Amino acid sequence: MKILGIETSCDETAAAVVEDGCKVLSNVVVSQIDIHKTFGGVVPEVAARSHIEAILPVVSEAMKPFSWAEIDAIAVTAMPGLIGSLMVGVATAETLALSKQIPLYPVHHVLGHVYASFIGDNQPDFPFIALTVSGGHTQLVLFRDHDDFTVLGQTRDDAAGEAFDKVAKILGLSYPGGPAISEAAKLGDPKKYHLPKAKMQNPYDFSFSGLKTAVLRAVQAEVGKDFTFPSTKLSGLLSDSQRNDFAASFQKTAVDTLVDKLVKAVDEFQPKSVVICGGVAANQLLRSTALERLSSVKLHIPALEYCTDNAAMIATLAYYQSKFTQPVDPAAVEIIPALPLDRLKS
Ligand code: KG4
Ligand code: ZN
Repeated sequence: MKILGIETSCDETAAAVVEDGCKVLSNVVVSQIDIHKTFGGVVPEVAARSHIEAILPVVSEAMKPFSWAEIDAIAVTAMPGLIGSLMVGVATAETLALSKQIPLYPVHHVLGHVYASFIGDNQPDFPFIALTVSGGHTQLVLFRDHDDFTVLGQTRDDAAGEAFDKVAKILGLSYPGGPAISEAAKLGDPKKYHLPKAKMQNPYDFSFSGLKTAVLRAVQAEVGKDFTFPSTKLSGLLSDSQRNDFAASFQKTAVDTLVDKLVKAVDEFQPKSVVICGGVAANQLLRSTALERLSSVKLHIPALEYCTDNAAMIATLAYYQSKFTQPVDPAAVEIIPALPLDRLKS
């Protein structure tokens, strides 16, 4: 079964064809990072306009090796995400489904990140625990089966990727913050600054906004300024070695927080596999720390290209969903900008 996946929920325009939920036959991603870099973050209106320009060339490129008659289904991200961005992908998928008479499956972006771990030959076994860490989401989810999962915990404020992006801004590093912080951290001392780990009532919940503020306060103290000094000017007062030490200390605290909770969940629920997915799963320290501390369980971390937003994960998810859900009417796809995973099944 060949599925064309389409993904436009944030700032990547992507299309891919995946066979039987595991074999990626084509995978095209056009990133808008360079456009948004100048603004220090994603500008929703600019993102939607860029998707409009990119979507048809991206779909054509992904479809180049195939005729439409070979495509058994179309999958599209319809939730959650930026409304204008989602609309471009959904309108494209609806039009293709109607005009080519192909069944259409709208899917959930965050579940898509989890299903990136099903790409390839080595799929996770049920039950598994997934740590989803992206720019918009941070969640621990227990999957008993494809259609049976429970959200164990999630962030109460900033997502992990958002914390990387915001701390990078404080340190004067470029957007997106994750890769910039990891690069700077390579030259820094992770023990230089002691940063707090939030204690939560539900041990599987996360909070990263306090960590971001702790970095801000520590930078202010280090350069001898108080909260009245504009935070956008602080980074200009940091030396390269201070900046690298802050990056390394923040990265270590964020990664330890994520892995501590994952280890606790593994101890309690004894899953057969563990999945780490989403853009932050590209982080090398997170990958190596998880490998080291979860040596007794099968660990699945998607290849780097399937950690950040892509459409192969969307097609893969639809392959499994098509086994227990019906395709939808292409004239009536519901776009839902905010839909937490635990409300998906209502
Ligand atoms: O999954 P993704 O591509 O988009 C969303 O669905 O949000 O994740 C993007 C996030 C950004 O916040 C970015 O800073 C973070 O993933 N990221 C990283 C790394 N690469 C990307 N965070 C830490 N380390 C990285 N190497
Ligand atoms: Zn994502």
